[in-house]
Parts: sequence; C-alpha cells; structure tokens
Amino acid sequence: MKSLGGLRDVVRQELLARQLDEQIAARFPVGQRLRVLDVGTGQGTQALRLARAGHQVTGVESDPAMLAVVREALATEPEGIRKRVRLIEGDGRETGVHFTPGAFDVVLCHGVLMYVDEPDAMLAGLARVLAPGGLLSLLVRNADALAIRPGLSGDWDAALAAFDTDTYTNRLGLPVRADRLDALTTTLGGIGTPLRAWYGVRVFTDTAPSGAELPGDAVLGALLDAEERAGRTEPYRRVAALLHVCGVRGATA
Ligand SMILES: C[S@@+](CC[C@H](N)C(=O)[O-])C[C@H]1O[C@@H](n2cnc3c(N)ncnc32)[C@H](O)[C@@H]1O
Repeated sequence: MKSLGGLRDVVRQELLARQLDEQIAARFPVGQRLRVLDVGTGQGTQALRLARAGHQVTGVESDPAMLAVVREALATEPEGIRKRVRLIEGDGRETGVHFTPGAFDVVLCHGVLMYVDEPDAMLAGLARVLAPGGLLSLLVRNADALAIRPGLSGDWDAALAAFDTDTYTNRLGLPVRADRLDALTTTLGGIGTPLRAWYGVRVFTDTAPSGAELPGDAVLGALLDAEERAGRTEPYRRVAALLHVCGVRGATA
C-alpha cells in the first residue's frame, strides 16, 4: 500500500479493500469472476486491485485527466490484467446510457456522492445495472459526524456550525455534500437494494495532515488493524469520517 500516497489515503483504500473483500466473500462463490462497475474510478486503486484479483472491471470516470492517470497505471500491468479493465469517459448519473439492467455483480461508487446534488436518481441507476444478489458498495462522507474533524482540530466555530448541516468544505476547498446513514438506508430500501452491512472508515486518522508520511510497517499494520476494528465496532464506527455502506440487490429489507 506504500505507493498510494499519504496516510489518510492509505487508510481509506486499505479499509475499503478489506471490507469489500469481506462482503464479496460473503456473497459470491470463491473464484467466481465478477463483473464489477467502478463509478468515479479516480486513480483506479480499487479497480486495478480487483482486476488483479481476476475480476472483469469497467470504470466510468467523468474527468479525462483522472482517466489518463488510470490508463498510465494500467499500461504497466501484464496483458491479462489490462484485458480485464475497460475504461469509459462518462457521467455516473447516466449508467442507463452505457449498460443494460443487471449487467454487473458488483457496483462501486466510492467518494462520488459528495459531488452529486441529487444522489437518489444516481443510486437508482446504479441499482438497476446490478444483477439480483449483486453488491452495491458506497463510500460517503458521514453527515452525522461532521463536527468531529473541526472539533478535534480546535476550530470551535466550525464544529458548532457542523452540527446543523449536511454540507462541508473538503480539503480541496470545494463545498460538498455528506450523507446520513438513516436517509441512505431508506433510499437503498426504496430502490430494491437494501442495506446489508456498513462500516466506518477513518475513525482515528481523519485529522492527520494531507500527505502525512507513512509510519514503518509494524506501526502501520497496527494502525490499520485498529482502524479496521473501530470501523466495525459500535459506537466508534458511527463517528468515522466516511461510511462504507453496502446494499444487496433484491435482498429483502
Ligand atoms: C474522490 S475521487 C474517488 C476516486 C475513487 N473512487 C476512490 O475511491 O479512490 C472521486 C472521483 O469521482 C469522479 N466523479 C465525480 N463525479 C462523477 C460523476 N458524476 N460521474 C463519474 N465520475 C465522477 C471524479 O472525477 C473523481 O475522479
């Protein structure tokens, strides 16, 4: 995981990987080659990881510059892996234009809903392209814990303001949305993809400076294990900066 950049990103990607693998193992036979859609592929960390694991991955990304980054990374992979990845420049709100209903076993939408003004329509579109029993994996900013980051940083005015809002300014300075678990649970039920599991991501390390250097392997391993444990344990997971929310298509609520 060392090539991924700062500590916060390593924690985010490594926890997502562990939690996603747990959900995939719980729902699909070992060795099944899954059809995965990754909406908002970004730098392609999970897309490439899943392709290396043998799955067939389609990435939809709206930013041509990010697509170029993934293409460059993909070019260094063996041909067998390259052939398993398809990249499309497009809008994740328009999956119906590109794909038929039920075309995927797993749909990832990580770190994207915060940029989408009306997420319910997009989520319904993502649910539609999932096959029955398919897994929808969402990573969202946790609106129920927006006061934690400014509070732990000693920014008391911002902490007080954060109790009464679902929006925040991200580290790039952009005003973006956060999601509440209760509302998301209702939405997932309404689109035939009820909540099956949820985790917290970044309970302890959210206030680490951007680009903070990684500790040595032993400390990093313990840190990741502690984050993973907190991310699945009450009450810690409820105050994580991010929520990893998993729904299953056609599951009864
Ligand atoms: C915060 S990054 C997350 C990248 C990756 N999913 C991850 O978790 O590492 C969000 C990505 O979603 C892309 N994105 C935002 N809105 C999108 C949309 N409506 N359709 C497709 N991609 C979108 C952005 O360009 C960016 O690359």
